[in-house]
Amino acid sequence: MQPHIISKSDIHKIDFSKECVIIKEFFTSNECTEVSEFLKKFKKHNEENFKSDGENWHYTVKSNGNCFQTFIFNELCGINFLPLVNMYQSLFNLYIDLGECNNMDTFAKQIATNDFSTNKRIINPLVFSYPVGLSNFGWHKHDIRAQKFQLLANLSIPEFDYTGGETFVYMAEGKPDKQENSEEKCVIFDKKFDQGDIFSFPYGKWHKVNPTESSKVSNGQRTSMLMPLGARNSEQYKNEFLD
Ligand SMILES: [Fe+2]
Repeated sequence: MQPHIISKSDIHKIDFSKECVIIKEFFTSNECTEVSEFLKKFKKHNEENFKSDGENWHYTVKSNGNCFQTFIFNELCGINFLPLVNMYQSLFNLYIDLGECNNMDTFAKQIATNDFSTNKRIINPLVFSYPVGLSNFGWHKHDIRAQKFQLLANLSIPEFDYTGGETFVYMAEGKPDKQENSEEKCVIFDKKFDQGDIFSFPYGKWHKVNPTESSKVSNGQRTSMLMPLGARNSEQYKNEFLD
């Protein structure tokens, strides 16, 4: 199945808690490229798991059979690179516009909160990178108490930076069957999810990201910006994985 493909001006015509959506050209290519370059430098200048300018770091996720790189910006105000902060602010504003960020502190207050273990509902600015030939992110799902849908921006260029790397969202009830070909029950975000686009899916649905396969550049990857809204490091909000 294909997601709804809409422009920014049509966001109020869709129920984001129930539908899969691509919002075209939410960010410009310039914004995406600028932030991608910053992320490369951040990685080059900071070792994995070492904090930089506050509670900000990157590392490789290797658990539950998954493999991808993540950047965690829990103290965004410490990052001296405005385009990155501005993109997260735009995501925050979009969540507000869609009715999702109520009862939360202002963006300015949240990016100055560096407490990793807060039980308050707070923004969690992240980047996930799926390196070509290495990445895997299998079926999993999230707790829906903190948010009803997840917004995710593509910073990279499909068919150039990566092939493959499709996101599958299982829209049927129950769990997907790993053995069964369940494609017809899934919405698939493929190469139509272009650089600068945002996709959204109902947060309680099972989803996975296919491995990225090839690239026209060296060290190609699919890079995504996202910002879950839950409490940080809370035992109550653990993800579920398919056995
Ligand atoms: Fe997820």
